Amino acid sequence: MKHTQYAFTQSDLSPLQLDQITAAAQILRTGGIVAFPTETVYGLGADVTNPVAIEKIYKIKQRPIDHPLIVHIGNISHLHYWAQAISDSAWKLANHFWPGPLTLILPRSNRIPDSVTGGQGTVGIRFPAHPVALALLRALGPEKALAAPSANRFGRISPTLAAHVHQELGSTVDMILDGGACDVGLESTIVSFHDEIPQILRPGSITLLELEAALNNSVILAHHINNQSIRTSGSLPAHYAPMTPLRVYSNTQIWQQAFILAEKNLRVMVITWSNTNKPEFSNQFIEQFSMPEDPVAYGRQLYAKLRQFDQAEFDYMLIESPPDHPNWLAIADRLQRASYHSPDNN
Ligand code: TXA
Ligand code: MG
Repeated sequence: MKHTQYAFTQSDLSPLQLDQITAAAQILRTGGIVAFPTETVYGLGADVTNPVAIEKIYKIKQRPIDHPLIVHIGNISHLHYWAQAISDSAWKLANHFWPGPLTLILPRSNRIPDSVTGGQGTVGIRFPAHPVALALLRALGPEKALAAPSANRFGRISPTLAAHVHQELGSTVDMILDGGACDVGLESTIVSFHDEIPQILRPGSITLLELEAALNNSVILAHHINNQSIRTSGSLPAHYAPMTPLRVYSNTQIWQQAFILAEKNLRVMVITWSNTNKPEFSNQFIEQFSMPEDPVAYGRQLYAKLRQFDQAEFDYMLIESPPDHPNWLAIADRLQRASYHSPDNN
Protein backbone atom coordinates (compact mmCIF):
# COMPACT_ATOMS: atom_id res chain seq x y z
CA MET A 1 0.00 0.00 0.00
CA LYS A 2 1.54 3.30 -1.09
CA HIS A 3 1.37 6.24 1.26
CA THR A 4 -0.47 8.43 -1.24
CA GLN A 5 -3.37 7.66 -3.51
CA TYR A 6 -3.42 9.54 -6.78
CA ALA A 7 -6.46 10.73 -8.63
CA PHE A 8 -5.97 8.70 -11.81
CA THR A 9 -5.49 5.08 -12.75
CA GLN A 10 -4.42 3.57 -16.08
CA SER A 11 -8.02 2.64 -16.89
CA ASP A 12 -9.02 6.33 -16.75
CA LEU A 13 -7.16 6.97 -20.00
CA SER A 14 -9.50 7.57 -22.93
CA PRO A 15 -8.92 6.05 -26.40
CA LEU A 16 -8.05 9.57 -27.58
CA GLN A 17 -5.41 9.92 -24.87
CA LEU A 18 -3.99 6.50 -25.77
CA ASP A 19 -3.72 7.59 -29.44
CA GLN A 20 -2.01 10.80 -28.41
CA ILE A 21 0.42 8.87 -26.21
CA THR A 22 1.34 6.61 -29.17
CA ALA A 23 1.96 9.71 -31.30
CA ALA A 24 3.98 11.33 -28.50
CA ALA A 25 6.21 8.26 -28.17
CA GLN A 26 6.89 8.43 -31.93
CA ILE A 27 7.84 12.12 -31.64
CA LEU A 28 10.22 11.29 -28.79
CA ARG A 29 11.82 8.43 -30.77
CA THR A 30 12.70 10.87 -33.55
CA GLY A 31 14.28 13.40 -31.19
CA GLY A 32 11.24 15.60 -30.52
CA ILE A 33 10.11 17.23 -27.29
CA VAL A 34 6.86 16.32 -25.53
CA ALA A 35 5.42 18.02 -22.44
CA PHE A 36 3.57 15.51 -20.27
CA PRO A 37 1.76 15.44 -16.93
CA THR A 38 3.20 13.88 -13.80
CA GLU A 39 1.57 13.76 -10.37
CA THR A 40 3.87 16.63 -9.23
CA VAL A 41 4.09 19.13 -12.12
CA TYR A 42 4.21 18.93 -15.94
CA GLY A 43 7.54 17.80 -17.37
CA LEU A 44 9.32 18.68 -20.62
CA GLY A 45 10.37 15.29 -21.95
CA ALA A 46 13.11 14.08 -24.29
CA ASP A 47 14.66 10.66 -24.97
CA VAL A 48 17.47 10.38 -22.38
CA THR A 49 19.76 8.68 -24.89
CA ASN A 50 19.44 11.38 -27.58
CA PRO A 51 21.88 14.25 -26.90
CA VAL A 52 20.35 16.40 -29.67
CA ALA A 53 16.93 16.20 -28.01
CA ILE A 54 18.50 16.94 -24.60
CA GLU A 55 20.09 20.05 -26.06
CA LYS A 56 16.66 21.22 -27.25
CA ILE A 57 15.33 20.97 -23.67
CA TYR A 58 18.00 23.35 -22.38
CA LYS A 59 17.26 25.74 -25.23
CA ILE A 60 13.50 25.73 -24.74
CA LYS A 61 13.83 26.25 -20.99
CA GLN A 62 16.67 28.77 -21.38
CA ARG A 63 18.35 26.75 -18.69
CA PRO A 64 22.13 26.84 -18.07
CA ILE A 65 23.63 23.60 -19.37
CA ASP A 66 25.26 22.71 -16.05
CA HIS A 67 21.87 22.20 -14.34
CA PRO A 68 21.08 18.49 -14.51
CA LEU A 69 17.80 16.91 -15.61
CA ILE A 70 15.77 14.22 -13.83
CA VAL A 71 15.51 10.87 -15.62
CA HIS A 72 12.00 9.38 -15.47
CA ILE A 73 11.64 5.60 -15.60
CA GLY A 74 8.51 3.48 -15.97
CA ASN A 75 9.46 0.53 -13.78
CA ILE A 76 11.51 0.08 -10.62
CA SER A 77 13.46 -2.74 -12.27
CA HIS A 78 14.90 -0.18 -14.74
CA LEU A 79 16.72 1.61 -11.92
CA HIS A 80 20.01 -0.27 -12.28
CA TYR A 81 19.98 0.24 -16.01
CA TRP A 82 20.48 4.01 -15.47
CA ALA A 83 22.22 4.09 -12.06
CA GLN A 84 24.86 2.01 -10.30
CA ALA A 85 26.18 1.37 -6.78
CA ILE A 86 22.62 1.74 -5.49
CA SER A 87 22.70 1.67 -1.69
CA ASP A 88 20.28 -0.30 0.48
CA SER A 89 18.76 2.98 1.67
CA ALA A 90 18.08 4.04 -1.91
CA TRP A 91 16.40 0.71 -2.69
CA LYS A 92 14.30 0.99 0.45
CA LEU A 93 13.03 4.43 -0.52
CA ALA A 94 12.42 3.37 -4.12
CA ASN A 95 10.43 0.32 -3.00
CA HIS A 96 8.44 2.30 -0.49
CA PHE A 97 7.59 5.48 -2.41
CA TRP A 98 7.70 4.60 -6.13
CA PRO A 99 5.80 5.24 -8.24
CA GLY A 100 5.55 8.63 -6.61
CA PRO A 101 6.93 12.14 -6.03
CA LEU A 102 10.47 11.15 -4.99
CA THR A 103 13.72 11.68 -6.92
CA LEU A 104 16.83 9.73 -5.93
CA ILE A 105 20.30 11.10 -6.69
CA LEU A 106 22.56 8.13 -7.49
CA PRO A 107 25.86 7.38 -9.24
CA ARG A 108 24.99 7.31 -12.94
CA SER A 109 25.49 4.42 -15.31
CA ASN A 110 27.43 5.01 -18.53
CA ARG A 111 24.19 4.90 -20.53
CA ILE A 112 23.42 8.45 -19.36
CA PRO A 113 24.95 11.11 -21.63
CA ASP A 114 26.96 13.92 -20.00
CA SER A 115 24.44 16.50 -21.16
CA VAL A 116 21.72 15.00 -18.93
CA THR A 117 23.74 15.33 -15.73
CA GLY A 118 25.63 18.54 -16.50
CA GLY A 119 28.78 16.40 -16.46
CA GLN A 120 28.22 15.26 -12.85
CA GLY A 121 28.86 11.68 -11.80
CA THR A 122 25.38 11.36 -10.33
CA VAL A 123 21.93 11.26 -11.88
CA GLY A 124 18.49 12.11 -10.50
CA ILE A 125 15.97 9.30 -11.13
CA ARG A 126 12.25 9.24 -10.56
CA PHE A 127 9.45 6.75 -11.28
CA PRO A 128 6.38 8.99 -11.62
CA ALA A 129 2.85 7.88 -10.70
CA HIS A 130 0.70 9.71 -13.26
CA PRO A 131 -0.99 7.25 -15.67
CA VAL A 132 -0.24 9.40 -18.73
CA ALA A 133 3.47 9.54 -17.81
CA LEU A 134 3.48 5.79 -17.18
CA ALA A 135 1.68 5.01 -20.44
CA LEU A 136 4.12 7.25 -22.32
CA LEU A 137 7.11 5.48 -20.76
CA ARG A 138 5.59 2.12 -21.60
CA ALA A 139 4.99 3.19 -25.21
CA LEU A 140 8.61 4.31 -25.49
CA GLY A 141 9.91 0.90 -24.50
CA PRO A 142 11.95 -0.70 -21.69
CA GLU A 143 15.36 0.54 -22.79
CA LYS A 144 14.25 4.15 -22.90
CA ALA A 145 13.63 6.79 -20.27
CA LEU A 146 12.51 10.40 -20.30
CA ALA A 147 14.81 13.22 -19.28
CA ALA A 148 12.36 15.82 -18.05
CA PRO A 149 12.72 19.04 -16.13
CA SER A 150 9.59 20.95 -15.16
CA ALA A 151 7.99 22.43 -18.31
CA ASN A 152 8.61 26.10 -17.51
CA ARG A 153 11.29 28.63 -18.37
CA PHE A 154 14.28 28.58 -16.05
CA GLY A 155 13.54 30.28 -12.73
CA ARG A 156 9.78 30.48 -13.23
CA ILE A 157 6.84 28.67 -11.64
CA SER A 158 6.34 25.02 -12.61
CA PRO A 159 3.17 24.26 -14.63
CA THR A 160 0.40 22.24 -12.99
CA LEU A 161 -2.03 22.37 -15.95
CA ALA A 162 -1.49 21.70 -19.67
CA ALA A 163 -2.76 25.25 -20.28
CA HIS A 164 0.21 26.63 -18.29
CA VAL A 165 2.60 24.82 -20.65
CA HIS A 166 0.71 26.13 -23.71
CA GLN A 167 0.95 29.69 -22.40
CA GLU A 168 4.63 29.55 -21.54
CA LEU A 169 6.19 27.19 -24.09
CA GLY A 170 3.38 26.49 -26.58
CA SER A 171 5.05 26.98 -29.94
CA THR A 172 8.45 25.65 -28.88
CA VAL A 173 7.44 22.06 -28.06
CA ASP A 174 6.32 19.36 -30.49
CA MET A 175 3.40 18.13 -28.40
CA ILE A 176 1.69 18.75 -25.07
CA LEU A 177 -0.15 15.82 -23.48
CA ASP A 178 -3.04 16.93 -21.28
CA GLY A 179 -3.55 14.90 -18.11
CA GLY A 180 -5.57 17.44 -16.14
CA ALA A 181 -4.46 19.20 -12.98
CA CYS A 182 -1.44 17.74 -11.18
CA ASP A 183 -2.44 16.07 -7.95
CA VAL A 184 0.56 17.11 -5.82
CA GLY A 185 1.28 20.50 -7.43
CA LEU A 186 4.85 20.86 -6.08
CA GLU A 187 8.02 19.30 -7.48
CA SER A 188 9.26 15.95 -6.13
CA THR A 189 11.25 15.51 -2.94
CA ILE A 190 14.92 15.06 -3.95
CA VAL A 191 17.13 12.81 -1.80
CA SER A 192 20.89 12.42 -2.16
CA PHE A 193 22.97 9.55 -0.80
CA HIS A 194 26.29 11.33 -1.24
CA ASP A 195 26.98 11.23 2.52
CA GLU A 196 26.31 8.44 4.97
CA ILE A 197 23.10 10.09 6.16
CA PRO A 198 20.66 10.66 3.26
CA GLN A 199 20.00 14.34 2.59
CA ILE A 200 16.92 16.11 1.26
CA LEU A 201 18.18 18.47 -1.45
CA ARG A 202 14.68 19.73 -2.25
CA PRO A 203 11.71 19.26 0.12
CA GLY A 204 8.49 17.98 -1.44
CA SER A 205 5.23 16.32 -0.51
CA ILE A 206 7.06 13.25 0.82
CA THR A 207 8.25 14.62 4.14
CA LEU A 208 11.41 14.09 6.15
CA LEU A 209 9.44 12.16 8.76
CA GLU A 210 7.99 9.82 6.12
CA LEU A 211 11.48 9.19 4.69
CA GLU A 212 12.86 8.48 8.16
CA ALA A 213 9.98 6.12 8.93
CA ALA A 214 10.56 4.20 5.68
CA LEU A 215 14.30 3.91 6.37
CA ASN A 216 14.03 3.46 10.11
CA ASN A 217 16.98 5.84 10.18
CA SER A 218 17.80 9.56 10.14
CA VAL A 219 17.53 11.83 7.13
CA ILE A 220 18.76 15.42 7.14
CA LEU A 221 17.65 18.52 5.32
CA ALA A 222 20.39 20.18 3.26
CA HIS A 223 19.92 23.91 3.73
CA HIS A 224 21.22 26.30 1.07
CA ILE A 225 23.77 24.04 -0.46
CA ASN A 226 26.85 26.00 -1.41
CA ASN A 227 28.82 22.95 -2.33
CA GLN A 228 29.89 23.52 -5.94
CA SER A 229 29.99 19.79 -6.60
CA ILE A 230 26.21 19.47 -6.13
CA ARG A 231 24.19 21.62 -8.49
CA THR A 232 20.46 21.72 -7.95
CA SER A 233 18.79 24.55 -9.78
CA GLY A 234 15.83 24.16 -7.45
CA SER A 235 18.25 25.02 -4.66
CA LEU A 236 19.16 28.42 -6.07
CA PRO A 237 17.74 31.07 -3.74
CA ALA A 238 15.72 32.75 -6.51
CA HIS A 239 13.53 30.20 -8.29
CA TYR A 240 9.91 29.24 -8.82
CA ALA A 241 9.15 32.96 -9.13
CA PRO A 242 6.13 34.84 -10.49
CA MET A 243 6.70 38.13 -12.39
CA THR A 244 4.80 40.18 -9.81
CA PRO A 245 6.94 41.02 -6.76
CA LEU A 246 5.95 38.66 -3.97
CA ARG A 247 6.58 39.17 -0.27
CA VAL A 248 5.95 36.81 2.62
CA TYR A 249 4.60 38.23 5.91
CA SER A 250 3.19 36.84 9.13
CA ASN A 251 -0.55 37.27 9.63
CA THR A 252 0.12 40.07 12.13
CA GLN A 253 2.01 42.13 9.51
CA ILE A 254 0.40 41.25 6.21
CA TRP A 255 -2.61 43.59 6.37
CA GLN A 256 -0.57 46.48 7.74
CA GLN A 257 1.83 46.09 4.78
CA ALA A 258 -1.07 45.83 2.34
CA PHE A 259 -2.50 49.17 3.56
CA ILE A 260 0.91 50.87 3.35
CA LEU A 261 1.10 49.86 -0.34
CA ALA A 262 -2.55 50.73 -1.01
CA GLU A 263 -1.95 54.24 0.31
CA LYS A 264 0.55 54.65 -2.53
CA ASN A 265 -2.22 53.60 -4.97
CA LEU A 266 -0.51 50.25 -5.56
CA ARG A 267 -2.77 47.26 -6.29
CA VAL A 268 -2.16 44.45 -3.86
CA MET A 269 -3.20 40.79 -3.77
CA VAL A 270 -3.21 39.38 -0.23
CA ILE A 271 -3.01 35.58 -0.07
CA THR A 272 -3.71 34.09 3.34
CA TRP A 273 -4.44 30.68 4.82
CA SER A 274 -5.40 31.48 8.41
CA ASN A 275 -7.88 34.31 7.90
CA THR A 276 -6.98 35.87 11.24
CA ASN A 277 -6.54 39.65 11.54
CA LYS A 278 -8.55 40.25 8.38
CA PRO A 279 -9.87 43.84 8.48
CA GLU A 280 -13.65 44.37 8.44
CA PHE A 281 -13.52 47.21 5.93
CA SER A 282 -12.47 46.95 2.30
CA ASN A 283 -10.02 48.96 0.21
CA GLN A 284 -10.30 49.45 -3.55
CA PHE A 285 -6.61 48.64 -4.06
CA ILE A 286 -6.61 45.40 -2.07
CA GLU A 287 -7.97 41.99 -3.01
CA GLN A 288 -7.78 38.92 -0.83
CA PHE A 289 -7.74 35.19 -1.51
CA SER A 290 -7.96 32.39 1.07
CA MET A 291 -5.82 29.31 0.48
CA PRO A 292 -6.67 25.96 2.12
CA GLU A 293 -5.50 25.40 5.69
CA ASP A 294 -4.32 21.91 4.82
CA PRO A 295 -0.79 21.71 3.31
CA VAL A 296 -1.70 19.00 0.77
CA ALA A 297 -4.59 21.03 -0.65
CA TYR A 298 -2.51 24.23 -0.41
CA GLY A 299 0.40 22.67 -2.33
CA ARG A 300 -1.96 21.44 -5.05
CA GLN A 301 -3.25 24.98 -5.71
CA LEU A 302 -0.24 27.18 -5.02
CA TYR A 303 1.37 27.45 -8.47
CA ALA A 304 -1.94 27.75 -10.34
CA LYS A 305 -2.99 30.60 -8.04
CA LEU A 306 0.34 32.40 -8.35
CA ARG A 307 0.04 32.20 -12.15
CA GLN A 308 -3.57 33.43 -12.04
CA PHE A 309 -2.73 36.41 -9.84
CA ASP A 310 0.40 37.13 -11.88
CA GLN A 311 -1.81 37.59 -14.95
CA ALA A 312 -4.06 40.01 -13.09
CA GLU A 313 -1.02 42.33 -12.93
CA PHE A 314 -1.13 43.41 -9.33
CA ASP A 315 1.73 45.62 -8.22
CA TYR A 316 2.44 43.28 -5.33
CA MET A 317 1.42 39.89 -4.03
CA LEU A 318 1.64 39.53 -0.27
CA ILE A 319 1.46 35.99 1.02
CA GLU A 320 0.99 34.82 4.59
CA SER A 321 3.95 32.87 5.93
CA PRO A 322 3.07 29.18 6.28
CA PRO A 323 2.90 27.40 9.65
CA ASP A 324 6.24 26.39 11.13
CA HIS A 325 5.50 22.68 10.82
CA PRO A 326 7.39 19.91 8.95
CA ASN A 327 4.40 19.20 6.69
CA TRP A 328 4.64 22.79 5.34
CA LEU A 329 8.37 22.65 4.59
CA ALA A 330 8.07 22.28 0.79
CA ILE A 331 5.61 25.19 0.64
CA ALA A 332 7.80 27.37 2.87
CA ASP A 333 10.80 26.55 0.65
CA ARG A 334 9.00 27.50 -2.60
CA LEU A 335 7.59 30.73 -1.14
CA GLN A 336 11.01 31.76 0.10
CA ARG A 337 12.51 31.28 -3.37
CA ALA A 338 9.54 32.88 -5.14
CA SER A 339 9.94 36.01 -2.98
CA TYR A 340 13.71 36.29 -3.28
CA HIS A 341 13.78 38.89 -6.07
CA SER A 342 11.19 41.15 -4.50
CA PRO A 343 12.42 44.60 -3.59
CA ASP A 344 12.57 45.39 0.15
CA ASN A 345 12.29 41.75 1.03
CA ASN A 346 14.89 40.29 3.36
O1 TXA B 1 8.60 16.68 -9.67
C1 TXA B 1 9.63 16.82 -10.34
O2 TXA B 1 10.74 16.49 -9.92
C2 TXA B 1 9.46 17.41 -11.74
C3 TXA B 1 8.68 16.42 -12.61
C4 TXA B 1 8.58 16.87 -14.05
O3 TXA B 1 9.25 15.16 -12.49
N1 TXA B 1 10.74 17.70 -12.32
C5 TXA B 1 11.51 18.72 -11.91
O4 TXA B 1 12.66 18.87 -12.67
O5 TXA B 1 11.21 19.45 -10.98
P1 TXA B 1 13.57 20.17 -12.63
O6 TXA B 1 14.61 19.95 -13.65
O7 TXA B 1 12.73 21.36 -12.77
O8 TXA B 1 14.21 20.09 -11.23
C6 TXA B 1 15.05 19.01 -10.97
C7 TXA B 1 16.03 19.35 -9.91
C8 TXA B 1 16.91 20.47 -10.37
O9 TXA B 1 16.99 21.40 -9.32
C9 TXA B 1 18.21 19.75 -10.65
O10 TXA B 1 19.32 20.58 -10.51
C10 TXA B 1 18.18 18.62 -9.64
O11 TXA B 1 16.85 18.21 -9.68
N2 TXA B 1 19.03 17.52 -10.02
C11 TXA B 1 18.93 16.73 -11.11
N3 TXA B 1 19.96 15.87 -11.17
C12 TXA B 1 20.74 16.12 -10.10
C13 TXA B 1 21.97 15.59 -9.62
N4 TXA B 1 22.61 14.63 -10.27
N5 TXA B 1 22.48 16.10 -8.47
C14 TXA B 1 21.85 17.08 -7.81
N6 TXA B 1 20.69 17.65 -8.24
C15 TXA B 1 20.15 17.17 -9.36
MG1 MG C 1 12.05 23.18 -12.40
